[in-house]
Amino acid sequence: MDKLLIEGPTNLNGTVKVSRAKNAYLPILAAVLVSDKPIKLKNLPDLRDIRTMLRLLQNLGVKIDDHEDHTSFDASQLTGHEATYELVKTMRASIFVLGPLLARLGKAKVSLPGGCAIGTRPIDIHLKNLEKLGVEFEISSGYVESKSSNLKACHLPLSFPSVGATENLMMASIFIDGETIIENAAREPEISDLADFLNAMGASINGAGTSKITITGVKELNAVEYEAIGDRIEAATYIFGALMTESEVKVEGMNPKHIGFVLDTLKDMGANLEIGEDFVLVRRSKLKPVKIKTAPYPGFPTDLQAQMMALMTKIPGNSYIEENIFENRFMHVPELVRLGAKINLSGNSAFVEGGRPLKAAPVMCTDLRASAALVLAALVSEGETEVRRVYHLDRGYEKLDQKLNSLGAKVKKVNE
Ligand code: EPZ
Repeated sequence: MDKLLIEGPTNLNGTVKVSRAKNAYLPILAAVLVSDKPIKLKNLPDLRDIRTMLRLLQNLGVKIDDHEDHTSFDASQLTGHEATYELVKTMRASIFVLGPLLARLGKAKVSLPGGCAIGTRPIDIHLKNLEKLGVEFEISSGYVESKSSNLKACHLPLSFPSVGATENLMMASIFIDGETIIENAAREPEISDLADFLNAMGASINGAGTSKITITGVKELNAVEYEAIGDRIEAATYIFGALMTESEVKVEGMNPKHIGFVLDTLKDMGANLEIGEDFVLVRRSKLKPVKIKTAPYPGFPTDLQAQMMALMTKIPGNSYIEENIFENRFMHVPELVRLGAKINLSGNSAFVEGGRPLKAAPVMCTDLRASAALVLAALVSEGETEVRRVYHLDRGYEKLDQKLNSLGAKVKKVNE
């Protein structure tokens, strides 16, 4: 099992280009299943979750070929409709194949995703609204067996703006005659990116990015070539790292508007940022403590809560962060405390007394974004910090050690 040895404290310098967004490409890859025409996707990031999704598509009969800067897909002859437990248990996003398989084949057998480190992660909002579209379900021995003789357009008010449910319902509806309307839809940039991809393929989706999305059924799709948006969570992770190490770093390859609220919050904290079309230039900044509450987009993203907490440990004074999306997303806290941070938890709130020096210690990754927070903290901890179980990082950060070293960090990946 790999671990990272990170020398701190360190300064960073230079430019880092983020990869294409994991949380955009995962639903886009699932959407490949709805089309019988050739598809080319450019610059897929080399991440564990992406590789898992590619394996899942191949198991369903999709022919996949790798080329220099794109990957081609041929889903004209699907050979199955089942996403097995072996694959789904490693990646919850496998549930995204439910909608596309129902749209294309009228049936799907997908393993229940099960919980993960950050929470139980139910799919009740997905199932309840697919049922409204006319899908019949049977849940048995951990699988959702679903079929649909004829899906019918209808009005789908979501009880919560679930990202995955919004994406599954969009994909399930693209061939349904008439207008399917999703209300209280999630508004994340990855939702708009999926809609842009589906529309490029010939679908008719309006309103993505707002709370009301209208899907008008189409009959035919066309061949398409597409590239997903830059990874806004990866970008913000590097921006936080630059602020923590009091460095000057240019983070490029994404749309800063996709983390607009985060950048506004950082500026209110005193961050010295230059914001361009597709980059953020971070300069040395003196930051003030802050109070953060995670919320659905366009609020502060839950996927940056752990990394923001690492930043807070560096800021003298009392900061506060409230996690309102997932029920168990503070597993980075005891690990940050091992590095010397002073953090008290109360329910879904964390109180951080920042400005204390951090000291190297062995720490353990528990989930993807918690792992990123530990890497950031290690950059400013005195000595060599050992970050264990880094396979969590490989799920969502492409070449993190190489990118950090290209900025002057001292990160070694070793096999333990
Ligand atoms: C997506 O997960 C992201 N994953 C998550 O990123 C992200 O944290 C999350 O959206 C919120 O932004 C991908 O896009 C692959 P949700 P998803 O459905 O779709 C509850 C990362 O680090 N809920 O919006 O699962 C759920 O339990 C990952 O890259 C239900 O109760 O998120 C959670 O508390 C982690 N019933 C909340 O809603 C449902 O049917 C948000 O979930 C669905 C969700």
